[in-house]
Amino acid sequence: MELLKKIQLAPFTSFGLPASASWFCRIRKKPEISEALIFANRRAMELMPLGAGSNVVFTRDFSGLVMKMEMAGIEKIDQGPESVMVRIQAGQDWSSAVEYCLEQGWYGLENLAMIPGTAGAAPVQNIGAYGVEISDSLLDVQATETSTGLEKNFSAEQCAFGYRTSRFKREPGRWIISSITLRLHSSPIVDTSYKALAQKLEDMQIKHPTPQDVYRAVCTIRSTKLPDPSLVGNVGSFFTNPVVSDEKFEELRKQHGEIPAFEADHGGVKIAAAWLIDTCGFKAYEKGPVGVHGAQPLVLVNNGGATGKQVLALADEIRQAVKNRFGIVLEYEPRII
Ligand code: EPU
Repeated sequence: MELLKKIQLAPFTSFGLPASASWFCRIRKKPEISEALIFANRRAMELMPLGAGSNVVFTRDFSGLVMKMEMAGIEKIDQGPESVMVRIQAGQDWSSAVEYCLEQGWYGLENLAMIPGTAGAAPVQNIGAYGVEISDSLLDVQATETSTGLEKNFSAEQCAFGYRTSRFKREPGRWIISSITLRLHSSPIVDTSYKALAQKLEDMQIKHPTPQDVYRAVCTIRSTKLPDPSLVGNVGSFFTNPVVSDEKFEELRKQHGEIPAFEADHGGVKIAAAWLIDTCGFKAYEKGPVGVHGAQPLVLVNNGGATGKQVLALADEIRQAVKNRFGIVLEYEPRII
């Protein structure tokens, strides 16, 4: 394993913000995780595993060791009467894993098509889209503890998943995920409960959608609503949808009858942050090189040459405006360094 000094991180992230890592290595096989940990622990250095860098915002240089996770591969490890167990290596590109599983007849990931990132990063923020979250199919996560080098297997319950969160997100730097195991369906079961997805399938005049139809519909919606990170720097949603109490929601509804909201999985009401931002007039707003995406105001974009500090300045301006108008404090969704 090669340890590189002072590496620019912009090419390894989807936002393309300027920042460097004091140390950088690529993890291509499992024993290299231990090698990297020994190197960092001896120097009391901070560690950061990096997947595709599609959910991280660098506002400064990183003085520790960045471990670029590049172990790839997908294998079926077991088969039940109605399901298959599939292990995916942490550095595997997520979007091609979804495509591969669909081709094999392993169903359940179609709604999560085209999400930028790697399989190892997927459970960290419990990626979700169009009514499905990875926690719905996740069986366990294999991870190494950075301080002890010990390997641990986390059941889905131990991962303590929530909306865009997990124990791995709550304990940054503590675990290096090496692979994940999913339980997928071997018969074609679809989830079309998300309104925008059901609408798209109706527009496509599909009455009895197959997993392939759902996959195509999701890809179509994503391509029209979300900017392609290979063309325009972004990290997907910059804010999570706030969950408020039933009382707060009643109060908001009295003042803003049309406010889009959904029942949250763990109680309370989830408000569409995109609507809050849109209503505050930020859609397609630009501030220097940073902008708010026109088709989905939850997404901030780097129109070229932006810095992390400029991104945060705009994010903060949006937060203030939403707070002043609605009394709701938006939370950042990506990891901010
Ligand atoms: N809306 C507006 N104005 C707009 C766009 C949307 O008012 O310009 C309102 C609409 O009422 C719409 C609602 O916002 O119904 C929700 O919009 P959308 O369906 O696009 O979903 P979202 O809640 O804004 C979440 C995820 C996305 C995911 C979509 C689809 C979060 C933080 N974001 O967005 O995930 O793709 O649902 O399931 O939960 C990501 O995490 O990076 C991400 C892109």
